Amino acid sequence: MITFRSVVSGCGSYLPEKIVTNKQMEEMVDTTDEWIIERTGIHQRHIAADGELTSDLAIKAAQKALASAALTANDIDLIVLATSTADQTFPSTATRVQAALGMEKGAAFDVQAVCSGFIYALATADNFIRSGQSKNALVIGAETFSRILDWEDRATCVLFGDGAGAVVLSAGPGTGTSDDQGILSSHLHSDGRYNDLLYVDGGVSSTQSTGYLRMRGKEVFRHAVVNLASVVKEALEFNGLSADDVDMVIPHQANKRILDATIRKLKIDPDKVAVTVHKHANTSAASIPLALDDMVREERIARGDIIVLEAMGGGFTWGSCLIRW
Ligand code: UT7
Repeated sequence: MITFRSVVSGCGSYLPEKIVTNKQMEEMVDTTDEWIIERTGIHQRHIAADGELTSDLAIKAAQKALASAALTANDIDLIVLATSTADQTFPSTATRVQAALGMEKGAAFDVQAVCSGFIYALATADNFIRSGQSKNALVIGAETFSRILDWEDRATCVLFGDGAGAVVLSAGPGTGTSDDQGILSSHLHSDGRYNDLLYVDGGVSSTQSTGYLRMRGKEVFRHAVVNLASVVKEALEFNGLSADDVDMVIPHQANKRILDATIRKLKIDPDKVAVTVHKHANTSAASIPLALDDMVREERIARGDIIVLEAMGGGFTWGSCLIRW
C-alpha cells in the first residue's frame, strides 16, 4: 500500500547571462539563422561565462526552488543532481551544491542519463520519498554543454545551451490511486546498443580527456519520436488515463520538430505542450526543469492538473514521469 507521494512543493531555474543568437552562430560556423530555426526551432542559447561551473548554475536554481517551496536547506535530506557535465570527475556536483547550500546532513549524489537525466533523477528521488527514506528532496538538472561542444561542428554546436532547473519534492499523503497529488508514476528505459549514435568521444577511462559531443542526428531523431510517444503511452495506460486527461506535456527540449511529431503521434492538443527550445536550445538534463519553471511562472499549471514529463537522450535512455500537480 502506498502511504507517501512525492509532491512538487517548489521549483526554480537559472540561465547564464550571456545569450548567443543564431545570427552570432553564423559568424562562428557555416550555418544560417533560417536553417537553425527551420530544422530545430532554436533562436538562441545561453552560454555559461568563463569560470561559471555547472554547480554555480545548479546552486542558483536550487536556491530559487527552496524559496518557492518556503523551505531552507536544513529541511532537505536528499539531493539528486542530473548532469553529464560535472564540475569534476569526482566528487559529485551534487555534493558541491550541498556544501554551498550549507547542508551538513542528508545524502547528495549525481545521476548520469544525459538528456533523460532529470527524469532519472526525479524517479530516483521519488522512490526515496515513497519508501519513507526522504521527506524533502532537491532534484536538479544542470548542464554546461557548451564545454563539450566541438565549436567547429555545425551539425551539433548550434543545438545546445547551458542552464539549470530544480524542484523540491516533499512527502505527502498517498492512497495509491491516480487521484493522489504528486508523482503518480515514472517509467525509465535504456538501450545501450545505441551508444554510438549520440556520445562524447572522450572520457576518464578511455582517453583521459573530456572529449566532444558527437551525434548522428537523423537516426537519433527517428528513435526519439518512437520512444517518447511509447513511454508517454506507457505512463497513461499505467494510470488508467487517456491523452484527453493530460493538461500539460513538458518534454525534453531537443528540437521543435521532435516535440511536434511526438504530440501528433499521441493525439495531444499542441496547446498543451510546453515549448522553450526557441530560447533555451537543448540544455540536456536541465531542459525539463527549466521548461517546468517557465510554465509555473506563467501560471499555465493549476493544482490537480495532470502533467507528463518525457525525455530521451544518449545511451539511449528515455523515460516519463506523470504528476498530478
Ligand atoms: O537531446 C538528445 C536528443 N537529440 C536529439 O533529439 C537531436 C535529434 N536530431 C535532430 O534534431 C536533427 O536531426 C538535427 C537538427 C540534428 C539535424 O536536422 P536534419 O533535418 O536531420 O538534418 P541533417 O543532419 O540530415 O542535415 C541536412 C543537411 C546536411 O547537408 P546535406 O548533406 O543535405 O548537403 C547537413 O550538412 O543540413 C546540413 N547541416 C547544416 N546546414 C546549416 C547540418 N547542420 C547544419 C547547420 N547549418 N548548422
